[in-house]
Amino acid sequence: MVSIDVWNASVDFPIFDAKTRSLKKAVLGKVGGKIGTEQKVPIIEALHDITLSLKEGDRIGLVGHNGAGKSTLLRLLAGIYEPTRGSSRIVGKIAPVFDLGVGMDPEISGLENIMIRGLFLGMTRKQMEKRVDDIAEFTELGDYLQMPLRTYSTGMRVRLALGVVTSIDPEILLLDEGIGAVDAAFLSKARTRLVDLVKRSGMLVFASHQDDLLFELCNSALWMDEGQVKMQGSLREVLTAYKGRDPYEHLDKETLARLGQAPVLTTKTGEI
Ligand SMILES: Nc1ncnc2c1ncn2[C@@H]1O[C@H](COP(=O)(O)OP(=O)(O)OP(=O)(O)O)[C@@H](O)[C@H]1O
Ligand SMILES: [Mg+2]
Repeated sequence: MVSIDVWNASVDFPIFDAKTRSLKKAVLGKVGGKIGTEQKVPIIEALHDITLSLKEGDRIGLVGHNGAGKSTLLRLLAGIYEPTRGSSRIVGKIAPVFDLGVGMDPEISGLENIMIRGLFLGMTRKQMEKRVDDIAEFTELGDYLQMPLRTYSTGMRVRLALGVVTSIDPEILLLDEGIGAVDAAFLSKARTRLVDLVKRSGMLVFASHQDDLLFELCNSALWMDEGQVKMQGSLREVLTAYKGRDPYEHLDKETLARLGQAPVLTTKTGEI
């Protein structure tokens, strides 16, 4: 069973320039026999006193304004950031998808990159070997897959990355924006794969500003504001509070029909 627990966690970032100056001073200070300007370093408290308990089956959408702390929270949940105060416990293997291009090597071929990226996301070589053909077909890159990645256009790289990401079997899937940045035509082709990926994963936390993707992939939501959890509940409840209107009112017929068939939209409380 996968789970993530966070208790009263805060994450601070000392501001870089100020820190550099204070380090210089500290070094000089040592020579002069005086230490301790650290407390003057300005600190951004990106997360403040977060307590969360996530369990198997949770599909949580993270919403909130720019700088609210969504990406920082994802990194905390991934174990990439340690809490400055408080604590966290992660049970399960994390597949962090924060940047589609991360882990790609421009000098090796597309095919080799498929393997490397898969290993980075926690798959074994054997598992990846079985999936390479399927990924290759999905990307529609054909002979380009033999070429070094540096010869690819941006869109071609995204196709490759998305092909790999949607082929894995993650225990805990953490997604940050990036996927929403894919061009609309290809995203619509990738939708089914994305939905299947989320169904296969034990848990999803997805930070996004795109309602339609949130509807499709999540069943509950967490609203971050100034580094704190402002609200947690069903997706509809939280989005209505965050946006100040019921987001379902504005959905076109086609989307509503699609959502009507999507099992991911059933919630614990059954409001949707
Ligand atoms: N590496 C860092 N160094 C300093 N400050 C940071 C760092 N990363 C994030 N912050 C600060 O932490 C706060 C939260 O940032 P975060 O990236 O988590 O926001 P976000 O909710 O993901 O925003 P967006 O919707 O724009 O992606 C912001 O004030 C940001 O300036
Ligand atoms: Mg972010």
